[in-house]
Amino acid sequence: MTSLSLLKSLTPPALWRLAQCVRPPSASKPEWEYVPEGWSAAQRDAAIQGWNVASVVEAYRQDWPSFLRNIAGTGPLGVAPEAASAGRDNPILHNIVMSFGYALLRAAGRKDAIALLDWGGGIGHYYLLARTLAPELRIEYHCKDVPLLIAEGRRWLPTVTFHADEACLQRQYDLVLASGSLQFAEDWRATLAKLAGATGGLLYVASLPVVERAQSFVFVQRPYRFGYETEYLGWCLKRAEFLAAAAKNHLTLLREFAVGHRPVIVGAPEQNEYRGFLFQRAACGLA
Ligand SMILES: C[S@@+](CC[C@H](N)C(=O)[O-])C[C@H]1O[C@@H](n2cnc3c(N)ncnc32)[C@H](O)[C@@H]1O
Repeated sequence: MTSLSLLKSLTPPALWRLAQCVRPPSASKPEWEYVPEGWSAAQRDAAIQGWNVASVVEAYRQDWPSFLRNIAGTGPLGVAPEAASAGRDNPILHNIVMSFGYALLRAAGRKDAIALLDWGGGIGHYYLLARTLAPELRIEYHCKDVPLLIAEGRRWLPTVTFHADEACLQRQYDLVLASGSLQFAEDWRATLAKLAGATGGLLYVASLPVVERAQSFVFVQRPYRFGYETEYLGWCLKRAEFLAAAAKNHLTLLREFAVGHRPVIVGAPEQNEYRGFLFQRAACGLA
């Protein structure tokens, strides 16, 4: 049992709920906010701790049983991999999960086994979604994330190969997935190039916040409502700039996805929308 769950089990429920209301001052700021100074904000703001923090692991751990319940059976898969959700009917989440299913099956083509790298895959939720969406497909599943999440994932999913470093990029996969994760790479162009190099088939950049007209900019997310006691910076990319960088890496767009998620970023030069992009690496034929 972690110190957080131990503390929770020893604290009367009313007091625990009260304690949950006592947040650091930054928790009363907007959940999403424009950061004009960019990535250097992390040096002056101690609340910006990034993803490798114990409270994110703890939140994932607590929500794991409800995630497993939500993907069981034959009901819709409008479920949140990252957060506790009482239901499975959320149309945006359904869209995200089914779009992933499409990418998975395009990558598989006529093959009955594929290798997949999930970049920023946390503790491995998408492995279970992949098995649920394509039960006949054998998947050699690799998941790269920050060290604390990787350690937790290894406890739950022994058949997934977890990576805490970039050694996983030294080979190629039929499908490279970066779902909701490319935006957290300060040097997103370098990361995109590495992910492109690691695919021998398709690259699916999913749930990427983009704008049409404004220049790419940095935002901060303060995800305290999910129980994450951290803040992180991310990119909102100008769509044309992202697509130009993809083309430079010999990526051909096969399909673009409208996610339907449009979190308001307070103060942003333009409001964003989340989109997905399924690419094929040039000179790599589909199966
Ligand atoms: C918004 S979550 C997305 C989780 C999951 N892929 C999904 O789509 O639901 C972003 C993920 O990116 C991960 N991440 C952040 N920096 C990373 C890095 N340098 N390498 C790999 N993963 C990273 C975070 O730890 C987190 O698991």
